Amino acid sequence: MKRIAILASGTGTNAERIVRYFQEKGTAEVAWIIASRASAGVIERAARLHVPCKVITPDGFASGEAFRFLKENEIDFIVLAGFLSRVPDEIVHAYPQKIVNIHPSLLPKFGGKGMYGMHVHEAVLAAGETESGITIQYVSEKYDEGAFILQAKCPVLSDDTPDTLAARVHELEYRYYPEVIEKLILGLSETKKQTVYDWLI
Ligand code: GAR
Repeated sequence: MKRIAILASGTGTNAERIVRYFQEKGTAEVAWIIASRASAGVIERAARLHVPCKVITPDGFASGEAFRFLKENEIDFIVLAGFLSRVPDEIVHAYPQKIVNIHPSLLPKFGGKGMYGMHVHEAVLAAGETESGITIQYVSEKYDEGAFILQAKCPVLSDDTPDTLAARVHELEYRYYPEVIEKLILGLSETKKQTVYDWLI
């Protein structure tokens, strides 16, 4: 069975959904959660879900510690779920089309440096957008520029706050991310290279 590592920096609600999905379906195993901060809420979630968790700081990513850890633990597929550190090139090169990221906007809008979490929703509201959504993409060497796998949209309502918009976007993330990961992983074992989802909903 393919072994997944989830990389997260924050509270980890997506990480929890992904773990629960695979615990239920048994089609792949979340073997490790890697947290980039010792204070990340995802660490407590991992303990509750009985998934081993390791803290590797951004320095540990830069120095090669994370790369060695992934290889030693025979990780096949890497999922970024609210991960705010850079994925070093040696990891990107070692896992071609096997690292995915989720971003809480319709990229290329509201992507790039400093655009993460609530900053994205605040910027979407400040720009007066009428719709937002999610982008699931492969991770490439350039931040937020990897090929898109799936985008899903939701409306932005006139009385939205960053919190209400974030909640609507999170619902899309929970609905699509585990399923897309599963499709990609099952696709890998069929050796067929395919884009699983490549349309706008
Ligand atoms: C998610 O909305 C994810 O899309 C976003 O951080 C949130 C993490 O929430 N990621 C980015 O902004 C990456 N640029 P979670 O910790 O509850 O899963």
